[in-house]
Amino acid sequence: MSHPEPGAPLGRLEGQLKVTGAARYAAEYTPRGTAYAWPVPATIARGTVTAVHDTDALAMPGALAVLSHHNAPRVTPADDPVLSVLQNAHVPHRGWYVALAIAESLEAARGMAAALHIDYAADEHDVVLTEGHARLYEPELANGGHPARREHGDFDAAYASAAVRVDATYTMAAQHNHPMEPHASTAEWDGDRLTVYDSNQGSTKVRDALATLFELRPEQVTVVSEHVGGGFGSKGTPRPQVVLAAMAARQLRRPVKLALPRNQLAAVVGHRAPTVQRLRIGADRKGGISALGHEIITHTSTVREFVEQAATPSRTMYTAPNSRTTHQVAALDVPTPSWMRAPGEASGMYALESAMDELAVALGMDPVELRVRNDPAIEPDTGKPFSSRHLVECLREGARRFGWEERDPRPRSRREGSLLIGTGVASATYPVLVSPSMAEACTVPGGGYRVRVNATDIGTGARTVLAQVAADALGVPVDHVLIDIGRSDLPAAPLAGGSSGTASWGWAVHHACRRLRALVMEAGGAETPTTTLRAFADTSGEADAESPYARHAFGAHFAEVAVDADTGETRVRRLLGVYAAGRILNSRTGHSQFIGGMVMGLGMALLEGSTMDPSFGDFAERDLASYHVPTCADTPAMEAHWIDEDDRHLNPMGSKGIGEIGIVGTAAAIGNAVHHATGVRLRELPMTPDKVL
Ligand code: MOS
Repeated sequence: MSHPEPGAPLGRLEGQLKVTGAARYAAEYTPRGTAYAWPVPATIARGTVTAVHDTDALAMPGALAVLSHHNAPRVTPADDPVLSVLQNAHVPHRGWYVALAIAESLEAARGMAAALHIDYAADEHDVVLTEGHARLYEPELANGGHPARREHGDFDAAYASAAVRVDATYTMAAQHNHPMEPHASTAEWDGDRLTVYDSNQGSTKVRDALATLFELRPEQVTVVSEHVGGGFGSKGTPRPQVVLAAMAARQLRRPVKLALPRNQLAAVVGHRAPTVQRLRIGADRKGGISALGHEIITHTSTVREFVEQAATPSRTMYTAPNSRTTHQVAALDVPTPSWMRAPGEASGMYALESAMDELAVALGMDPVELRVRNDPAIEPDTGKPFSSRHLVECLREGARRFGWEERDPRPRSRREGSLLIGTGVASATYPVLVSPSMAEACTVPGGGYRVRVNATDIGTGARTVLAQVAADALGVPVDHVLIDIGRSDLPAAPLAGGSSGTASWGWAVHHACRRLRALVMEAGGAETPTTTLRAFADTSGEADAESPYARHAFGAHFAEVAVDADTGETRVRRLLGVYAAGRILNSRTGHSQFIGGMVMGLGMALLEGSTMDPSFGDFAERDLASYHVPTCADTPAMEAHWIDEDDRHLNPMGSKGIGEIGIVGTAAAIGNAVHHATGVRLRELPMTPDKVL
């Protein structure tokens, strides 16, 4: 365990704690006197709570209290209105929390919740997104602060006069994250001080939201999130359970634990909004794209506007002198969508990369060559040079490793009994995002160093990689570094999201460690000085400075599928990804990030989808028996490779984010392989057997 060099395949520092069960997650903290809460979701899709009958519930053994809008503590609205729970009688969507049962045990709380009688006045609801929906409007901004509309040149004229045209519409159902560890919080008040153990992707943000809601100073709130069992975006923002736990603990004057049951998650932790995406591409006969149109229709809730930024990758990927990229959204009576696993890019690149395949077929051109032919020298939307862009190299290297040149491009050209075999390719991209962070480094009496930063390890290996970044900056073996993360009383840090964690935290860790190293040198260079030396870093103004470069990671995905002509079942046989994402700081956890993303892309292609029930107004899939994620049996031979990039325009480590790019484009590669296998173009995800037949 003494690899000083970045990139070394160091195993997870907390791996042993996790596999032995010693690592504690939010619901595993049980302070003395803990009570248990169970939330009660609304059973109408829109309307008003008219009465909460709690007599039966409160008469049950172990019952402690029922909170509803009648008696719940008032909170000051935070940035996100989904956190203003139990504040009024309005029900904006089915599954919105209308009450909270609290008891001496989990079982008693659940029993109370079932015994509550809630009366409603239901209004008409509207939960189904359609093209041409009357409530569609063009917002100003899509998620991530992207302008909803961008236009370059004259798209209509260029498209109309193009020699070869593709006009295709792709649709995706809503999807849900369903992390292994459902959202959970244990809250405890000590006078005016609040401590919560919470499962999230960034506890500085949770702390600040709780401070606003309960009118506390941030230092009065401590949020502990030492181990987190996945989030994928659904824990990137504070969720109602942390507010409800804190409310209940305040009301009861004792600790309260609230672990959300999985069958409630779909309504309260966000989802990838469904999209209808129209792609129009016009090209000359040699494949040069002259016109690119990518128009999105999606939904949001009436609680908050969230617009899946699915057209944004079309602003970056290919040369297109005339382009139009737009988003329209309808605010329906549905749960509020949010971040899910490469929001924007994952959905948008499914459509763009499928349409590119359709264009290649229409041109009779190899789909790798079509992409190479349209690789831009500068970012089409901004005109900025790329800090580094090795998409072509990823495509070429992937094609070589995959054996692409042996491919017969004709659909239905390979058959094994009832199985039709096909291969497909798609590009990947993900933006380089980074946020300011603070970090502290100090010497430890007796030897070694301690690094403190409120990073969150949601299972990615963040803790381990940060120790490597610190060791590298200090010039010491990694086992000389202790690393503290996952508590909001550590130096403030941004969330584990947008594939930006390592870049953001690592930048501050690097600076703090470099400063500490200088102090140690000044003090004589000894690793065990008699006094503790301390250095601090805050990358505000530096990490968030506007870059003159367009900064994105790129990649290429290759897939081989076997489609059963009798049953319509598609199995992925091989998935191969090649990425260009700056320096890879740990080859082992990095590889896991890439193939983990590819597995999610496989799920998106073939299995995952949430169905909106139009009459009840909720998502039908609310457990892992109905919301299918890939199992080991679904994941074939998976290979992830990367091209080393030396990009000096990123951060001191030279890294780009790698958490999400593995998802982006994978579904298109699989869909393109299904077309190659069967000759049938499916334009709707997931590609379940009923759609294949
Ligand atoms: Mo990710 S969807 O940015 O947590």
